[in-house]
Amino acid sequence: MAPGLRTSPRAVVLLLSLLGLAAAGKLLVVPVDGSHWLSMQEVLDILGQKGHEVVVVAPEVTMHIKPSENFLMKRYSVPYTQEDLKQEFQAFFHFSFEQGSFLERFVKAYKGIKRITNFGVTSCQHLLQNKELMRYLEESKFDALLTDPVVLCGAILAQHLSLPAVYFLRGIPCGLDFEATQCPRPPSYVPRGFTQLTDHMSFLQRAKNLLHDIPDLFLCDFAFEPYSKLASEFLQREVTVQDLLRQASVWLLRSEFVLEYPRPLMPNIIPIGGLNCAHKELPQEFEAMVNASGEHGVVVFSLGSMVSEIPMKKAMEIAEALGTVPQTVLWRYTGKAPPNLPKNVKLVKWLPQNDLLAHPKTRAFITHGGSHGVYEGICNAVPMVLMPLFGDQMDNAKRVESRGAGLTLNILEMTSNDISTALKAVINDKKYKENIQRLSDLHLDRPIHPLDLAVHWVEFVMRHKGAPHLRPAAHDLNWVQYHSLDVIAFLAAVVLLAFFISFKCCLCCCRRCFCKKGRTRKAAKAKSH
Ligand SMILES: *[C@@H]1O[C@H](CO)[C@@H](O)[C@H](O)[C@H]1NC(C)=O
Repeated sequence: MAPGLRTSPRAVVLLLSLLGLAAAGKLLVVPVDGSHWLSMQEVLDILGQKGHEVVVVAPEVTMHIKPSENFLMKRYSVPYTQEDLKQEFQAFFHFSFEQGSFLERFVKAYKGIKRITNFGVTSCQHLLQNKELMRYLEESKFDALLTDPVVLCGAILAQHLSLPAVYFLRGIPCGLDFEATQCPRPPSYVPRGFTQLTDHMSFLQRAKNLLHDIPDLFLCDFAFEPYSKLASEFLQREVTVQDLLRQASVWLLRSEFVLEYPRPLMPNIIPIGGLNCAHKELPQEFEAMVNASGEHGVVVFSLGSMVSEIPMKKAMEIAEALGTVPQTVLWRYTGKAPPNLPKNVKLVKWLPQNDLLAHPKTRAFITHGGSHGVYEGICNAVPMVLMPLFGDQMDNAKRVESRGAGLTLNILEMTSNDISTALKAVINDKKYKENIQRLSDLHLDRPIHPLDLAVHWVEFVMRHKGAPHLRPAAHDLNWVQYHSLDVIAFLAAVVLLAFFISFKCCLCCCRRCFCKKGRTRKAAKAKSH
């Protein structure tokens, strides 16, 4: 990627906005914390630099959300502490490393998600009850609201303030997002989330994919219903989860069709996958480490911004495997250093992941398969070893692996030998590099950078107060009308009636004919007597 190419149009835009030629707007942002914040922040930075007034509303206690000169931050108090939040997420992510039967793991995941949902709902309640902040928001005349609908607090606020909403997301579990947009998703070739299926499915896989929708009908409720309850109470009318989702003017979807399998999208769904790949200069200390790695180069290893410690036994197995390659391994790890740490492995508390991946000496990327990391791997054409932990990571890993651009390991079952074999294969077998290079070339061959595209659509919604022209009329139909069941029933009735009439006519004709014959015969008989 050529960052220089992107700087100049942006400089022009900046100049235009300074000259007052581009009208500035006012944007309200209700972000989601954790890794979700990272790419949204890049969009906000550009919007701020272009002269828009950006107001971010966030709880006092956050993990990744931090103030910046590019936006105004409005905090509200919450009844939990930084430590509570940290512990909750640590416990949730730690569970990814625990063995157990499917049912045990399922119950644990269920409880974990429920507790994290409770944090979100509590935080949202405290925002909506904060009279001072709410008054400020009501009086502030925003042009639009930007939020990640995986937490529905922003959606409630958009309804309350009657603001056009832009949703910025990786996806919502159970396909709720595609359901809300009325986007067709035939189970014959659109693999469901968490199934780890590809778009080419055998008969049994298609059956699995189809059946996957059934538990979704019940499973998603517990994570989203609390918000619809909160919304109904706060707005004093019946509000469903679908109502909250359906209001979006534009959906900025953090995926695209180099990684994602081709499928239909609605006109108001804009794919912006790979928006987080704009790379900056590598900090001196990291450049020195890369320089010192010699001809073998480096391997970048990170399990993402949310997981930085892993159980010691696992850490030792991984350390042993990393010692078997000649590359220098830069490992983001904040836990206690494993005692068997080999010489070629450098532990760092933080690493500039994308800038390291962009370095020509980087040979491989060991990742948990989060969507940000996977796109950074694709942008920079670095083959991957994937150790998915939870959420969409298994599906992301499957997509990379099915394109021949990496290898997936099961974090619970992998041995030191498995890790070593996979890492060596990805580094030494040319086909992985060739495949990721091809994906990268396809991904980067585009008319506009996804970050600029995202910024454009947020501005579009601000300028035009929504995008109703993109809203399909499907939203105004009921289930029967949408599937044309009324029309089919009517046509079937017409056909049946036509059949019935023709049949009756035939019957009548036949009978008359028959009767006539019978009568003639009788008459003939009578004559002969
Ligand atoms: C690393 O190597 C490059 C190319 O030889 C050189 O330009 C750069 O200054 C070096 N950086 C450091 C921090 O040593």
